[in-house]
Amino acid sequence: MIAGPARPAAGCGTGRLVPVNRTPQAHVPLDLLTADPHPVWARLRELGEVVWVPEIDGWVTVTRAAAAAVMRDARSFTVDDPRFSTSRIVGASMLSTDGAAHTAHRRPWADGFRPVAVRDRFTEALRQEIDRLLDDLAEAAEPDLRTGLAAPLATAAMAQALGLSGLEVGQVLDWYRAMVAGVDEVTRGGEPPAAALRAMAGIRHHVAHALSEPASGSVLSDAAAAGGDPAVLAADVAVLLFGGVDTAESMTAIAAHHLLSHPDALRAVAADPALLPGAVQESLRLEPAATRVDRYATADVELAGAAVRAGDLVVVSLSAANRDPAVFDDPDTFDIHRENADQHLSFAIGPHYCLGVHLTTLQTTLALTLLLERFPGIRAAGPLPPVQGFVFRKPLAVPVLLG
Ligand code: HEM
Repeated sequence: MIAGPARPAAGCGTGRLVPVNRTPQAHVPLDLLTADPHPVWARLRELGEVVWVPEIDGWVTVTRAAAAAVMRDARSFTVDDPRFSTSRIVGASMLSTDGAAHTAHRRPWADGFRPVAVRDRFTEALRQEIDRLLDDLAEAAEPDLRTGLAAPLATAAMAQALGLSGLEVGQVLDWYRAMVAGVDEVTRGGEPPAAALRAMAGIRHHVAHALSEPASGSVLSDAAAAGGDPAVLAADVAVLLFGGVDTAESMTAIAAHHLLSHPDALRAVAADPALLPGAVQESLRLEPAATRVDRYATADVELAGAAVRAGDLVVVSLSAANRDPAVFDDPDTFDIHRENADQHLSFAIGPHYCLGVHLTTLQTTLALTLLLERFPGIRAAGPLPPVQGFVFRKPLAVPVLLG
């Protein structure tokens, strides 16, 4: 797929003064991507595997093979670039480094997020939290699975991972919101806002405090015991909040949305819970919570026929990869029996493969299992608001009748 340095385009040997005609190229009105990107990706796929989109000022990969090739090749396609706005707020983290620096950031956390460790540490606490949330839903006048189940569950899971007590859960959300607003501001060309920097100071303080206490049994205290330096750990705690709150909420909300909009599938899963993990994978495939990851070319390279130049932004479209018809038959259909649904790239692939994959999958699967056990006659309360969003996608609400 990636075949060594490409011949530089005529006149582009030095700097970026001479405009380069990048091909294949397609104009994409960005609001189309917010509503429904899939017809756009299908149109781009007819032009090539990797297409220059002027509105994005970058290349977009639209096949699974091209997406995987970019994410696996951190040497040619790095995350370590000043344009990456998150690092202007949180500092260097596992999300913004490659190679040895990335390994140093990620290693202290690895054990705590392995499948067995996650199952042993989180299952019982999540079960209790879900039961409590279902009690509240049963009393709600207009139960909504996003705000009433998916969102509070995601926050509680991260609070537990980071060793924060119940009372401090609101604090997690405040930090999260201040950082999201800060990254937004920097992305639009502004300076890091004071509130975001205060949130980072709060996280650093929490980490230093956690390190001064006897081990609390949290993933954070394990990471500290594994030799993480406090300043380094603080940046990665911020990244865990970024990575683990909104996306996990979306994953549960989207999976519920898919099942409720396909009553046959919902009935099948309610009758046979062994079908649920496949349904969750299929939901991830059809609508990943995070639609893209960004990389920056470190050298001129040819990528699936496109002449990518050093410094170019390469947007890896996970949502396009997941509906590549060369890999997935009838790719736009929600099919809970699809055998290769788990070939989706919603958690990325390669060195930055999602660290929270087992925790977030446990959350969604357990939440839906207990929901269907408690309310087997659950159904959508009317037409559901669509899943939408430019980079991060979710339905605004998932209103239900509990049966
Ligand atoms: C408990 C919930 C989650 C946690 C704690 C979490 C944590 C993380 C962390 C720490 C990383 C950075 C790994 C690295 O750079 O080495 C990461 C990467 C990633 N996560 Fe997650 N995550 C969670 C849920 C999700 C969900 C639900 C999705 C999407 C369905 C997702 C998609 C991704 C993707 C696409 C990346 C790769 C980013 C990149 O390559 O630039 N994550 N996650």
